[in-house]
Amino acid sequence: MARGKAKEEGGWKKFIWNSEKKEFLGRTGGSWFKILLFYVIFYGCLAGIFIGTIQVMLLTISEFKPTYQDRVAPPGLTQIPQIQKTEISFQPSNPKTYEVYVRNIVRFLEKYKELAQKDEMIFENCGSVPSEYKDRGGYDSDPGERKVCKFKLEWLGNCSGLNDESFGYKDGKPCVIIKLNRVLGFKPKPPKNDTLEGLPLLKYNPYVLPVQCAGKRDEDKEKIGTVEYYGLGGYPGFPLQYYPYYGKLLQPKYLQPLLAVQFTNLTLDTEVRVECKAYGENIGYSEKDRFQGRFDVKIEVRS
Ligand SMILES: *[C@@H]1O[C@H](CO)[C@@H](O)[C@H](O)[C@H]1NC(C)=O
Ligand SMILES: *[C@@H]1O[C@H](CO)[C@@H](O)[C@H](O)[C@H]1NC(C)=O
Ligand SMILES: *[C@@H]1O[C@H](CO)[C@@H](O)[C@H](O)[C@H]1NC(C)=O
Repeated sequence: MARGKAKEEGGWKKFIWNSEKKEFLGRTGGSWFKILLFYVIFYGCLAGIFIGTIQVMLLTISEFKPTYQDRVAPPGLTQIPQIQKTEISFQPSNPKTYEVYVRNIVRFLEKYKELAQKDEMIFENCGSVPSEYKDRGGYDSDPGERKVCKFKLEWLGNCSGLNDESFGYKDGKPCVIIKLNRVLGFKPKPPKNDTLEGLPLLKYNPYVLPVQCAGKRDEDKEKIGTVEYYGLGGYPGFPLQYYPYYGKLLQPKYLQPLLAVQFTNLTLDTEVRVECKAYGENIGYSEKDRFQGRFDVKIEVRS
């Protein structure tokens, strides 16, 4: 028994290092060397192909503008407060019921405060009336970082939070702030006509991409009441001088123009479905994507 084991161990040892044949693990040094050489070359080539392919890919990719962008336009339209199930329901007499909406708006407007736009190296005044697109050169590193248009909170009027910290919620007149999601290089094109879907636009300006909010269904149209719009120059929409957007690297502090809407006479104790829609030649809508060019939100003011 003991002898058998010893013999077995001897066999193992012989396999690991056979001194007679000068074999290690059953192969001679020359054989091992060839195998090693083969694998070094083989993996070397694989790595070469891999690195080469990635290098070629990187050469065609610009840091500043996506080479392949499958969804340039149209951008989404979104609302603040950003809320689950897009439903705003509150009781004006009970601050606890609207606290979450107000906090959401306050947090969003943080970067629109005057103090946050003080740096003259970054921010510039683009006027307080709507004007033409602001071309700031090519989408590459050459002139470096681009300036950003200031956006003054006071343009949001009664929805700016400057004179009413509850953004109208305490009076049952809720404010909703609307923005168009940023898309690099996108220039929104306002509609050519000042009539849309048979109705005259509220206040037409060729340099404003108009937005309108209305009741979604017929029964909502009666309940929505008055809608006040607050935006740059008093126009209900997005002024063009804020476009195009040059991307995170060239305009890290970019501020989207905002539009605030306030519902000042909503019918109480009913859910009113409101749809806000941006109108333009290159603004599209999709049945699948509820935020493409429009959004809808349910609002209920409880008495
Ligand atoms: C803004 O609020 C003030 C004070 O509540 C009110 O007098 C004024 O009419 C409001 N402005 C608009 C455009 O509704
Ligand atoms: C603009 O108005 C003209 C004539 O009034 C009409 O033919 C055209 O279809 C309108 N365009 C749009 C985009 O509504
Ligand atoms: C508010 O709406 C009611 C009907 O729902 C209407 O009778 C009233 O005149 C409206 N008030 C204002 C200020 O528009």
